[in-house]
Amino acid sequence: MKVVEERFSVAFAYPVIFCRGLFGEDCGVLDEVLGRDAEAPLPHRLLIVMDQGVRAAHPGLPMAIARWLTARQGRVELAAPIEYLPGGEFAKRQDGVVGKLVKLAYQTHFGRKDAFVAIGGGAVQDVVGYAAALVHRGCRTIRVNTTTLSQADAGVGVKNGVDYGACKNFLGTFAPPFAVINDADFLPTLPDREWRNGIAEAVKVAVIKDAAFLDWLWAHADALRMRDLEAMAELVERTARLHLAHIANGGDAFERGAARPLDFGHWSAHRLEAMTCYQLTHGEAVAIGIALDMAYAALAGLLPPADCTRVVALLRACGLPVWCDELALRGTDGRLAVLEGLRQFREHLGGRLCVTLPDGLGAKTEVGEMDEALLERAVALLRERYA
Ligand SMILES: NC(=O)c1ccc[n+]([C@@H]2O[C@H](COP(=O)([O-])OP(=O)(O)OC[C@H]3O[C@@H](n4cnc5c(N)ncnc54)[C@H](O)[C@@H]3O)[C@@H](O)[C@H]2O)c1
Ligand SMILES: [Zn+2]
Repeated sequence: MKVVEERFSVAFAYPVIFCRGLFGEDCGVLDEVLGRDAEAPLPHRLLIVMDQGVRAAHPGLPMAIARWLTARQGRVELAAPIEYLPGGEFAKRQDGVVGKLVKLAYQTHFGRKDAFVAIGGGAVQDVVGYAAALVHRGCRTIRVNTTTLSQADAGVGVKNGVDYGACKNFLGTFAPPFAVINDADFLPTLPDREWRNGIAEAVKVAVIKDAAFLDWLWAHADALRMRDLEAMAELVERTARLHLAHIANGGDAFERGAARPLDFGHWSAHRLEAMTCYQLTHGEAVAIGIALDMAYAALAGLLPPADCTRVVALLRACGLPVWCDELALRGTDGRLAVLEGLRQFREHLGGRLCVTLPDGLGAKTEVGEMDEALLERAVALLRERYA
C-alpha cells in the first residue's frame, strides 16, 4: 500500500462593514467592497436577491438601487432584474427556491467574479448563500443584512443552509461571504418580535464569552426593548465582533470538531422552532433554549442559581420569552418531546454529543451528555416560575 498525504490550508478574509444609508447615491460602501478585487472585470455584475419583507417595509428601495446603479453606469450593472424571495423560515423550507436561483445564475451566464447581493434577514441570507456556494463551486456573496439577528449573528458568519423534511439546516455548506454590510437604517421597520431576536443571540454569546457585555445588556435592557436604535447598533456590533472573533480565532471555523460554543442554547431551540411549526422565531426559540440550559447548568452546579435567575430576568426584561408549552410536551414514550433535539444535534455533530454550557458567567464548558432527570427538573423549574 502507498499513501500520499499533503496538508494544506486556505486563508479567508472578508470585511464586515457597519454603516447607514447604503443605497444613497453618494454612498461609497458598495463601491469600496466591489473595488477590493482590483482584477475583477468591469462592469461588476450583480444579482440582487431581496427579501419581500424588506421590499414591503422599504418600498422606495428598488428605486434607490436603480438610481445608485445609474450613477455607476459602465462600472456596475445588474445581471437580471431584482429577484424577490419570501422572507422568514418559509424561504428555507420552500421547494425549488435554490433551483430558481441557480437557474437565474445559469441563464445570466454568471461567473465566479460576479456577485449575488442578498438583501434580507437570516433566512434569505441562508438560501442565497447556499445557492451561491453551489454555482461554479462557489461564487461571490455580498450579504446586506436587514434584521438584528442577521446583522449580529446569522449573516456575519461562514454558514448557509436550507431545511429538509423536519430537519432545520439539513442541507448547507461552509462558504465565507465576499463581504458583509450591516446598514442600521434597515432596522427601524422591523416588527417588535424581529427587533428582539438579535438580543437573544447577544445574550447567548455574552453568557459564554463576555461577562462585561452581559452587564452592558443589563444596563441597556429597557432601551433595547423600547427600540433605541443607538443601543441596538451597539449590541449588533459587539455581538458580531464576538461571533467573528470566535470564527477567526476559535480554531475551528468550519466546525470539524464537536464543540459548537455559538450553538449554546440551540439544541432545544431548533427543535422548538420545528415543534411550533415555526410559530416561534429563531431568536425567541434561542431565548427559551438559553433559559433551559441556564436552569440545567444551575441544577448541575455549573453556576449559582442566582446567575441563572439573572440571565432569565434579562431575557424577559428585553421582551423575550423564556417558556413555551411545547417545552413540556411528551411523546408516546412519555419522554419530553424536546429531547429529540438532543438526538438531532448529536446526529448533526456526527455521532458524539457535545453541548456548550456556561461555566459561571462569561465562560463556558462542554459536556458530552445531558442528564435526562436534570433536564426534567429544569423544565419543571421554568414552568413553575414562568409558564
Ligand atoms: N447561517 C447561520 O450561521 C445562522 C445563524 C443563526 C440563524 N440563522 C438562521 O437565520 C434565520 C432567522 O433569521 P432572522 O432572524 O434574520 O429573520 P428572518 O430572515 O426569518 O426574517 C424575519 C422576517 O423579517 C422580515 N424582514 C427582514 N428584514 C426586515 C426589515 N428590515 N424590515 C421589516 N421586515 C423585515 C422578513 O421578510 C421576515 O418576514 C433562521 O432560519 C436561522 O436558522 C442562520
Ligand atoms: Zn442562532
